[in-house]
Amino acid sequence: NNSDLNIYKDYHREAAELYHHILVNTQLGEEALDYLHGRGLTDDLIEEFQLGYAPAKKLLLPFFDEHQPDYQKLRKSGLFVELKDGQLSDRFRERVMFPICNAAGQVIAFSGRLLHKNETQPKYLNSPETELFNKRDILFNFDKAKNAVRNEKSIILFEGFMDVLAAYRSGVKNGVASMGTSLTEQQVYSLARVSKKLSICYDGDQPGQDATKRALELLGSLNRFELSVISLPEKLDPDEYVGKYGEEKFYERVHSNLESELAFYLRYYEQGRNLDNEHDQLAYIDDVLKKLAQSNDPIERDLYLNRLAQRFNLDKAMLETQLTDLRSALQ
Ligand code: UTP
Ligand code: MN
Ligand code: MN
Ligand code: MN
Ligand code: MN
Repeated sequence: NNSDLNIYKDYHREAAELYHHILVNTQLGEEALDYLHGRGLTDDLIEEFQLGYAPAKKLLLPFFDEHQPDYQKLRKSGLFVELKDGQLSDRFRERVMFPICNAAGQVIAFSGRLLHKNETQPKYLNSPETELFNKRDILFNFDKAKNAVRNEKSIILFEGFMDVLAAYRSGVKNGVASMGTSLTEQQVYSLARVSKKLSICYDGDQPGQDATKRALELLGSLNRFELSVISLPEKLDPDEYVGKYGEEKFYERVHSNLESELAFYLRYYEQGRNLDNEHDQLAYIDDVLKKLAQSNDPIERDLYLNRLAQRFNLDKAMLETQLTDLRSALQ
Protein backbone atom coordinates (compact mmCIF):
# COMPACT_ATOMS: atom_id res chain seq x y z
CA ASN A 1 0.00 0.00 0.00
CA ASN A 2 1.26 3.37 -1.14
CA SER A 3 0.82 5.38 2.03
CA ASP A 4 2.66 2.67 3.98
CA LEU A 5 5.53 2.90 1.51
CA ASN A 6 5.65 6.64 2.00
CA ILE A 7 5.90 6.20 5.75
CA TYR A 8 8.83 3.79 5.33
CA LYS A 9 10.47 6.28 2.99
CA ASP A 10 10.01 9.02 5.59
CA TYR A 11 11.70 6.83 8.20
CA HIS A 12 14.62 6.21 5.89
CA ARG A 13 14.99 9.85 4.93
CA GLU A 14 14.97 10.86 8.60
CA ALA A 15 17.42 8.14 9.53
CA ALA A 16 19.77 9.16 6.71
CA GLU A 17 19.65 12.78 7.84
CA LEU A 18 20.36 11.78 11.40
CA TYR A 19 23.27 9.46 10.55
CA HIS A 20 24.70 12.17 8.33
CA HIS A 21 24.35 14.81 11.03
CA ILE A 22 26.12 12.54 13.54
CA LEU A 23 28.98 12.04 11.09
CA VAL A 24 29.61 15.60 10.03
CA ASN A 25 28.55 17.70 13.02
CA THR A 26 29.16 15.74 16.20
CA GLN A 27 31.92 14.36 18.35
CA LEU A 28 30.35 10.91 18.02
CA GLY A 29 31.16 10.92 14.32
CA GLU A 30 34.68 12.27 14.54
CA GLU A 31 36.51 8.99 14.20
CA ALA A 32 34.34 7.87 11.28
CA LEU A 33 34.85 11.21 9.54
CA ASP A 34 38.62 10.87 9.92
CA TYR A 35 38.34 7.36 8.57
CA LEU A 36 36.48 8.53 5.45
CA HIS A 37 38.87 11.43 4.89
CA GLY A 38 41.70 8.93 5.26
CA ARG A 39 40.15 6.89 2.46
CA GLY A 40 40.21 9.91 0.18
CA LEU A 41 36.62 11.09 0.46
CA THR A 42 36.09 14.85 0.52
CA ASP A 43 33.41 16.66 2.49
CA ASP A 44 31.64 17.45 -0.78
CA LEU A 45 31.44 13.80 -1.69
CA ILE A 46 30.29 12.85 1.82
CA GLU A 47 27.59 15.48 1.40
CA GLU A 48 26.59 14.39 -2.08
CA PHE A 49 26.13 10.75 -1.06
CA GLN A 50 24.83 11.70 2.36
CA LEU A 51 27.17 9.30 4.08
CA GLY A 52 26.62 8.93 7.77
CA TYR A 53 27.65 7.24 10.98
CA ALA A 54 25.69 4.96 13.26
CA PRO A 55 27.28 5.30 16.71
CA ALA A 56 27.59 2.57 19.34
CA LYS A 57 24.75 3.96 21.42
CA LYS A 58 21.04 3.85 20.59
CA LEU A 59 20.27 6.63 18.18
CA LEU A 60 17.21 5.98 16.01
CA LEU A 61 14.91 4.58 18.66
CA PRO A 62 15.02 7.57 21.00
CA PHE A 63 14.71 9.84 17.95
CA PHE A 64 11.59 8.11 16.61
CA ASP A 65 10.16 7.75 20.15
CA GLU A 66 9.80 11.51 20.28
CA HIS A 67 7.53 11.51 17.24
CA GLN A 68 4.86 9.05 18.44
CA PRO A 69 5.68 6.50 15.78
CA ASP A 70 3.70 3.51 14.61
CA TYR A 71 5.79 0.78 16.28
CA GLN A 72 4.38 -1.88 14.00
CA LYS A 73 5.78 0.01 11.03
CA LEU A 74 9.08 0.75 12.72
CA ARG A 75 9.37 -2.98 13.33
CA LYS A 76 8.96 -3.71 9.64
CA SER A 77 11.15 -0.84 8.43
CA GLY A 78 14.39 -2.81 8.54
CA LEU A 79 16.06 -0.11 10.60
CA PHE A 80 15.80 -2.11 13.82
CA VAL A 81 16.33 -5.58 15.15
CA GLU A 82 13.86 -7.13 17.52
CA LEU A 83 15.25 -8.28 20.86
CA LYS A 84 14.00 -11.40 22.66
CA ASP A 85 11.63 -9.36 24.82
CA GLY A 86 10.10 -7.79 21.70
CA GLN A 87 11.88 -4.47 22.21
CA LEU A 88 13.36 -2.76 19.18
CA SER A 89 17.01 -1.89 18.96
CA ASP A 90 19.03 -0.01 16.33
CA ARG A 91 20.22 -2.51 13.69
CA PHE A 92 23.30 -0.53 12.70
CA ARG A 93 25.95 0.22 15.35
CA GLU A 94 29.45 1.58 14.95
CA ARG A 95 29.16 1.55 11.20
CA VAL A 96 29.77 4.07 8.44
CA MET A 97 26.41 4.38 6.73
CA PHE A 98 25.80 4.32 3.00
CA PRO A 99 22.23 5.28 2.06
CA ILE A 100 20.87 3.14 -0.77
CA CYS A 101 18.41 4.88 -3.06
CA ASN A 102 15.79 3.77 -5.56
CA ALA A 103 15.82 5.03 -9.15
CA ALA A 104 14.01 8.19 -8.01
CA GLY A 105 16.78 8.98 -5.52
CA GLN A 106 14.76 8.18 -2.40
CA VAL A 107 16.54 6.37 0.43
CA ILE A 108 15.07 2.89 0.81
CA ALA A 109 17.81 0.99 2.64
CA PHE A 110 21.29 1.24 4.12
CA SER A 111 24.54 -0.57 4.13
CA GLY A 112 26.85 -0.03 7.06
CA ARG A 113 30.60 -0.62 7.03
CA LEU A 114 32.40 -1.61 10.18
CA LEU A 115 34.71 1.10 11.39
CA HIS A 116 36.91 -1.39 13.19
CA LYS A 117 37.91 -4.79 11.94
CA ASN A 118 35.78 -7.36 13.70
CA GLU A 119 36.07 -11.11 13.14
CA THR A 120 32.55 -11.91 14.26
CA GLN A 121 30.61 -9.46 12.11
CA PRO A 122 30.33 -8.93 8.35
CA LYS A 123 32.34 -6.01 6.98
CA TYR A 124 29.24 -4.59 5.33
CA LEU A 125 25.79 -5.09 6.82
CA ASN A 126 22.82 -4.42 4.56
CA SER A 127 19.22 -3.68 5.42
CA PRO A 128 17.05 -6.79 5.26
CA GLU A 129 14.48 -7.26 2.53
CA THR A 130 11.49 -5.04 3.26
CA GLU A 131 8.43 -3.74 1.46
CA LEU A 132 10.68 -0.92 0.21
CA PHE A 133 13.88 -2.78 -0.42
CA ASN A 134 14.13 -5.69 -2.77
CA LYS A 135 17.84 -6.29 -2.97
CA ARG A 136 17.59 -8.06 -6.33
CA ASP A 137 16.15 -4.94 -7.97
CA ILE A 138 18.52 -2.31 -6.64
CA LEU A 139 21.92 -1.08 -7.74
CA PHE A 140 23.87 1.36 -5.59
CA ASN A 141 24.08 4.81 -7.28
CA PHE A 142 21.70 3.86 -10.10
CA ASP A 143 19.76 7.09 -9.53
CA LYS A 144 22.79 9.29 -10.19
CA ALA A 145 24.42 7.04 -12.79
CA LYS A 146 21.39 6.96 -15.07
CA ASN A 147 21.71 10.73 -15.48
CA ALA A 148 25.47 10.53 -16.05
CA VAL A 149 24.83 8.08 -18.90
CA ARG A 150 23.58 11.00 -20.96
CA ASN A 151 27.12 12.39 -21.09
CA GLU A 152 29.15 9.21 -20.85
CA LYS A 153 26.96 7.07 -23.12
CA SER A 154 27.80 4.03 -21.02
CA ILE A 155 27.35 2.57 -17.59
CA ILE A 156 29.99 0.88 -15.45
CA LEU A 157 29.45 -1.97 -13.07
CA PHE A 158 31.56 -2.11 -9.89
CA GLU A 159 31.66 -4.53 -6.97
CA GLY A 160 31.44 -2.19 -4.05
CA PHE A 161 30.39 1.11 -2.56
CA MET A 162 33.90 2.47 -2.15
CA ASP A 163 34.65 1.62 -5.78
CA VAL A 164 31.68 3.64 -7.01
CA LEU A 165 32.79 6.54 -4.81
CA ALA A 166 36.43 6.35 -5.89
CA ALA A 167 35.29 6.40 -9.52
CA TYR A 168 32.92 9.27 -8.82
CA ARG A 169 35.61 11.49 -7.37
CA SER A 170 37.78 10.65 -10.38
CA GLY A 171 35.07 12.11 -12.60
CA VAL A 172 33.58 8.75 -13.53
CA LYS A 173 30.00 9.28 -12.40
CA ASN A 174 28.27 6.57 -14.39
CA GLY A 175 29.15 3.75 -11.98
CA VAL A 176 26.83 1.44 -10.08
CA ALA A 177 27.40 -1.51 -7.74
CA SER A 178 25.40 -4.65 -7.16
CA MET A 179 26.37 -4.72 -3.46
CA GLY A 180 28.00 -8.04 -2.80
CA THR A 181 25.52 -10.40 -4.38
CA SER A 182 26.06 -11.55 -7.90
CA LEU A 183 24.27 -9.56 -10.55
CA THR A 184 20.59 -10.43 -10.93
CA GLU A 185 18.33 -10.53 -13.96
CA GLN A 186 16.22 -7.68 -12.58
CA GLN A 187 19.32 -5.50 -12.21
CA VAL A 188 20.33 -6.34 -15.76
CA TYR A 189 16.94 -5.18 -17.05
CA SER A 190 17.29 -1.87 -15.20
CA LEU A 191 20.72 -1.40 -16.78
CA ALA A 192 19.41 -2.23 -20.25
CA ARG A 193 16.77 0.47 -19.92
CA VAL A 194 19.33 3.23 -19.51
CA SER A 195 22.40 2.23 -21.51
CA LYS A 196 23.46 0.18 -24.49
CA LYS A 197 27.14 0.24 -23.61
CA LEU A 198 28.20 -1.43 -20.40
CA SER A 199 31.62 -1.99 -18.87
CA ILE A 200 32.51 -4.28 -16.01
CA CYS A 201 35.16 -3.02 -13.61
CA TYR A 202 35.28 -5.58 -10.83
CA ASP A 203 38.13 -6.19 -8.41
CA GLY A 204 41.39 -7.41 -9.92
CA ASP A 205 41.56 -10.39 -7.53
CA GLN A 206 40.48 -13.91 -8.50
CA PRO A 207 36.93 -13.65 -7.06
CA GLY A 208 36.53 -10.41 -9.01
CA GLN A 209 37.70 -12.06 -12.24
CA ASP A 210 35.41 -15.04 -11.71
CA ALA A 211 32.51 -12.66 -11.05
CA THR A 212 33.38 -10.77 -14.25
CA LYS A 213 33.02 -13.98 -16.24
CA ARG A 214 29.65 -14.76 -14.64
CA ALA A 215 28.41 -11.21 -15.24
CA LEU A 216 29.51 -11.33 -18.90
CA GLU A 217 27.57 -14.55 -19.35
CA LEU A 218 24.41 -13.12 -17.80
CA LEU A 219 24.66 -9.77 -19.60
CA GLY A 220 25.53 -11.46 -22.89
CA SER A 221 22.50 -13.73 -22.75
CA LEU A 222 20.28 -10.67 -23.10
CA ASN A 223 21.89 -9.66 -26.39
CA ARG A 224 21.21 -6.01 -25.69
CA PHE A 225 24.59 -4.63 -24.61
CA GLU A 226 27.89 -3.69 -26.13
CA LEU A 227 30.07 -5.19 -23.42
CA SER A 228 33.60 -4.44 -22.36
CA VAL A 229 35.86 -5.01 -19.38
CA ILE A 230 38.05 -2.54 -17.52
CA SER A 231 40.76 -4.63 -15.91
CA LEU A 232 43.01 -3.50 -13.10
CA PRO A 233 46.58 -4.58 -12.39
CA GLU A 234 48.07 -6.13 -9.26
CA LYS A 235 44.78 -7.57 -8.00
CA LEU A 236 43.71 -4.05 -7.04
CA ASP A 237 40.11 -3.00 -6.67
CA PRO A 238 39.08 0.33 -8.23
CA ASP A 239 39.27 2.17 -4.90
CA GLU A 240 42.76 0.81 -4.22
CA TYR A 241 43.80 1.67 -7.78
CA VAL A 242 42.74 5.29 -7.32
CA GLY A 243 44.54 5.38 -3.96
CA LYS A 244 47.75 4.07 -5.52
CA TYR A 245 47.82 5.69 -8.97
CA GLY A 246 45.51 8.67 -8.61
CA GLU A 247 42.22 9.90 -9.99
CA GLU A 248 43.58 11.01 -13.39
CA LYS A 249 45.10 7.62 -14.13
CA PHE A 250 41.83 5.93 -13.26
CA TYR A 251 39.85 8.31 -15.44
CA GLU A 252 42.24 7.59 -18.33
CA ARG A 253 42.02 3.88 -17.83
CA VAL A 254 38.25 3.90 -17.91
CA HIS A 255 38.22 5.97 -21.09
CA SER A 256 41.02 4.32 -23.02
CA ASN A 257 41.64 0.86 -21.72
CA LEU A 258 38.47 -1.01 -22.59
CA GLU A 259 39.05 -4.66 -23.19
CA SER A 260 36.73 -6.61 -25.50
CA GLU A 261 34.85 -9.57 -24.13
CA LEU A 262 37.09 -11.97 -26.06
CA ALA A 263 40.26 -10.25 -24.90
CA PHE A 264 39.05 -10.70 -21.33
CA TYR A 265 38.39 -14.40 -21.87
CA LEU A 266 41.83 -14.94 -23.42
CA ARG A 267 43.43 -13.44 -20.35
CA TYR A 268 41.06 -15.34 -18.07
CA TYR A 269 41.76 -18.73 -19.67
CA GLU A 270 45.48 -18.14 -19.36
CA GLN A 271 45.34 -17.62 -15.61
CA GLY A 272 46.69 -20.50 -13.58
CA ARG A 273 48.00 -22.24 -16.69
CA ASN A 274 51.52 -22.71 -17.89
CA LEU A 275 51.30 -22.42 -21.67
CA ASP A 276 54.74 -23.99 -22.14
CA ASN A 277 53.22 -27.15 -20.81
CA GLU A 278 51.51 -29.20 -23.51
CA HIS A 279 48.57 -30.31 -21.39
CA ASP A 280 47.77 -26.75 -20.30
CA GLN A 281 48.26 -25.55 -23.86
CA LEU A 282 45.66 -27.98 -25.24
CA ALA A 283 43.16 -27.07 -22.54
CA TYR A 284 43.72 -23.38 -23.26
CA ILE A 285 43.25 -23.78 -27.03
CA ASP A 286 40.12 -25.80 -26.39
CA ASP A 287 38.66 -23.07 -24.16
CA VAL A 288 39.52 -20.34 -26.64
CA LEU A 289 38.02 -22.20 -29.62
CA LYS A 290 34.80 -22.84 -27.71
CA LYS A 291 34.53 -19.18 -26.85
CA LEU A 292 35.42 -18.12 -30.41
CA ALA A 293 32.71 -20.41 -31.72
CA GLN A 294 30.14 -18.24 -29.92
CA SER A 295 31.28 -15.10 -31.71
CA ASN A 296 29.10 -14.00 -34.61
CA ASP A 297 31.72 -11.66 -35.97
CA PRO A 298 33.73 -13.37 -38.74
CA ILE A 299 36.52 -10.80 -38.59
CA GLU A 300 36.92 -11.29 -34.87
CA ARG A 301 36.98 -15.08 -35.32
CA ASP A 302 39.60 -14.81 -38.02
CA LEU A 303 41.75 -12.41 -36.03
CA TYR A 304 41.93 -14.69 -33.02
CA LEU A 305 42.39 -17.83 -35.09
CA ASN A 306 45.43 -16.23 -36.67
CA ARG A 307 46.78 -15.36 -33.27
CA LEU A 308 46.27 -18.90 -31.97
CA ALA A 309 47.90 -20.42 -35.04
CA GLN A 310 50.89 -18.12 -34.75
CA ARG A 311 51.34 -18.33 -31.03
CA PHE A 312 51.31 -22.12 -30.87
CA ASN A 313 52.67 -22.74 -34.33
CA LEU A 314 49.57 -24.56 -35.51
CA ASP A 315 48.02 -25.05 -38.92
CA LYS A 316 45.32 -22.41 -39.35
CA ALA A 317 43.23 -24.56 -41.70
CA MET A 318 43.08 -27.26 -39.05
CA LEU A 319 41.93 -24.74 -36.41
CA GLU A 320 39.34 -23.44 -38.85
CA THR A 321 37.89 -26.89 -39.37
CA GLN A 322 37.64 -27.38 -35.65
CA LEU A 323 35.96 -24.02 -35.21
CA THR A 324 33.43 -24.82 -37.94
CA ASP A 325 32.59 -28.09 -36.21
CA LEU A 326 32.12 -26.32 -32.89
CA ARG A 327 29.89 -23.71 -34.52
CA SER A 328 27.67 -26.25 -36.22
CA ALA A 329 27.30 -28.05 -32.88
CA LEU A 330 25.94 -24.76 -31.47
CA GLN A 331 23.25 -24.40 -34.13
P1 UTP B 1 34.83 -6.37 -1.07
O1 UTP B 1 35.20 -7.46 -0.15
O2 UTP B 1 35.57 -6.24 -2.34
O3 UTP B 1 34.89 -5.07 -0.20
O4 UTP B 1 33.28 -6.52 -1.33
P2 UTP B 1 35.25 -3.57 -0.64
O5 UTP B 1 34.10 -3.02 -1.43
O6 UTP B 1 36.59 -3.54 -1.29
O7 UTP B 1 35.24 -2.86 0.78
P3 UTP B 1 36.32 -1.88 1.44
O8 UTP B 1 37.12 -1.23 0.37
O9 UTP B 1 37.14 -2.74 2.35
O10 UTP B 1 35.48 -0.92 2.22
C1 UTP B 1 32.62 -5.88 -2.42
C2 UTP B 1 31.23 -5.49 -2.00
O11 UTP B 1 30.53 -6.62 -1.52
C3 UTP B 1 29.60 -6.24 -0.51
C4 UTP B 1 29.72 -4.75 -0.37
O12 UTP B 1 28.79 -4.12 -1.23
C5 UTP B 1 31.13 -4.48 -0.85
O13 UTP B 1 31.31 -3.14 -1.26
N1 UTP B 1 29.88 -6.90 0.77
C6 UTP B 1 31.16 -7.19 1.14
C7 UTP B 1 28.84 -7.17 1.62
O14 UTP B 1 27.67 -6.90 1.30
N2 UTP B 1 29.12 -7.72 2.85
C8 UTP B 1 30.39 -8.01 3.25
O15 UTP B 1 30.57 -8.47 4.38
C9 UTP B 1 31.43 -7.75 2.36
MN1 MN C 1 24.72 17.81 5.22
MN1 MN D 1 35.97 -8.03 -3.90
MN1 MN E 1 36.99 -4.71 -3.16
MN1 MN F 1 38.01 -1.95 -1.45
